[in-house]
This record gives sequence, C-alpha cells and structure tokens, in this order.
Amino acid sequence: MQNKIIITIDGYSSCGKSTLAKQLARRLDYVHIDSGAMYRAITLYLLRNDIHLDIEADISKAIENINLSFVKNDFTGTSDMYLNDENVESMIREMLVSERVSDVATHKSVRDFAVAQQRKIGINKGIIMDGRDIGTTVFAHAELKLFMTADVKTRVERRFKEMFAINPMVSLEEVKHNLEMRDYIDSNREISPLRKADDAVVLDNTLLTMDEQLDIALQLAYERIALPMAKN
Ligand code: C5P
Repeated sequence: MQNKIIITIDGYSSCGKSTLAKQLARRLDYVHIDSGAMYRAITLYLLRNDIHLDIEADISKAIENINLSFVKNDFTGTSDMYLNDENVESMIREMLVSERVSDVATHKSVRDFAVAQQRKIGINKGIIMDGRDIGTTVFAHAELKLFMTADVKTRVERRFKEMFAINPMVSLEEVKHNLEMRDYIDSNREISPLRKADDAVVLDNTLLTMDEQLDIALQLAYERIALPMAKN
C-alpha cells in the first residue's frame, strides 16, 4: 500500500494556493481542504448575527453555534463549504467577508475552533490543506510543506479576475487594498502569524505556468511519498 502523506500549502493571499492544492489532490487522489473557507464561513456567521468583531467573549460564545462541514459538489468535483447545513461557498467569497475575515482570524477562540477541526480532518493523512498556518501550526510535522509566493501585481490581477466574475462592480484598487491589508494583518497577528516554516519549500509562481508549478509540486510529493512516514 502507498504511503499517505500530509501536504501543507501556505502563503500570501491570491498566490494560487487553492488552485495548486486542487490539482495535486486530483493527481494524488487526496482530499483537499481550503482552511481559509472555514475562517470565511465563521466570519459570515458573525456578520449575519451582528456579533461585535472586537469582543473575544462574544465571538467565543457565538462559535458554539457554528457547525462547519465540507460537502463534495458533484458538478464541480470539489468541496463546498457548509455553514450549519447551508451551502455558503459563493457567499464567503464576497468582499464583505474578505474585508473582515483577517480581523476575525486573529481571535484565539476562532483559531482554536478551526485548528481543532483541521487536525481532525487530517487524522488519516492523504490530505492537502492550504492556508496561512498549516505548515507552522496545524500540521507542523507534515511530510511536505510548500510556501507559495508571487509578486503583488500578479496576485492583484489574478484576484481581480476572480472577484470581477462574481461582482463586476468591484475595482482593481479595492482588490489591491484588500489583499495588502489581509497580508499585513495575517503576517503581524499574535497567534500563528503567516510565516514560512523552516522546512518549507518556497514556490514563487510569478513566472511559472500552472503546469510547471504542478510538476514541481508533484515531484516533491512523490519524493516524500516514497520515504518512511513522519509521526503527527
Ligand atoms: O485563503 P483565504 O484567502 O480564503 O483566507 C481568508 C483569510 O482567512 C486569510 O486572509 C486569513 O486571515 C485567514 N486564514 C487564516 N489561517 C488559515 C487560512 C486562512 O488565518 N489557515
């Protein structure tokens, strides 16, 4: 039987982490988990219920009412985020959520809640999880850690295209501001800030095609799969 490993993909906003994770999952027949979707769904819940986003005690209490799950979408072949049994996959990508998610993700209760679920999902390995703290905190003993980056201009253009498809009213300036703001908050928060894990491989995809990037990641994964498994 083939070794199943854990692959973590961390990095700045809109580096194409989820795209690579989905491709890898398809090629390796692994499960892909977009951890950012969990923070986005929590943010959506808090906004909908008028919870004060600065008050830790209120957030901590509200979280008790949140149930998150990933459900396979047979049409897209990927997993959709469900919040209390409602499919919120497209709603969590809206600017209203993007504007607040990084503040929400600074809270200890939010991170404890998300990390506990992420670790549970990874218990059987055979998983690729992308986010900001996956290689440093969630799966610090993962067999393969990737840290993705790309120049800001490239990332803003990619993000703008995605956002424009959902909402043609969005401006390039708004997208740029949101991306830089999230990178700043994510890199400077107290708990599990965005960092490259010491043993992560850096993948700068500014000048790489998606196929080239996938080839590099697959090669690294195959090397790790052939090695004895690490303990988690
Ligand atoms: O990956 P995505 O851009 O959808 O993530 C949205 C936000 O969720 C990030 O900007 C960050 O604030 C938060 N996040 C996090 N830790 C993760 C994944 C996402 O703090 N592992």
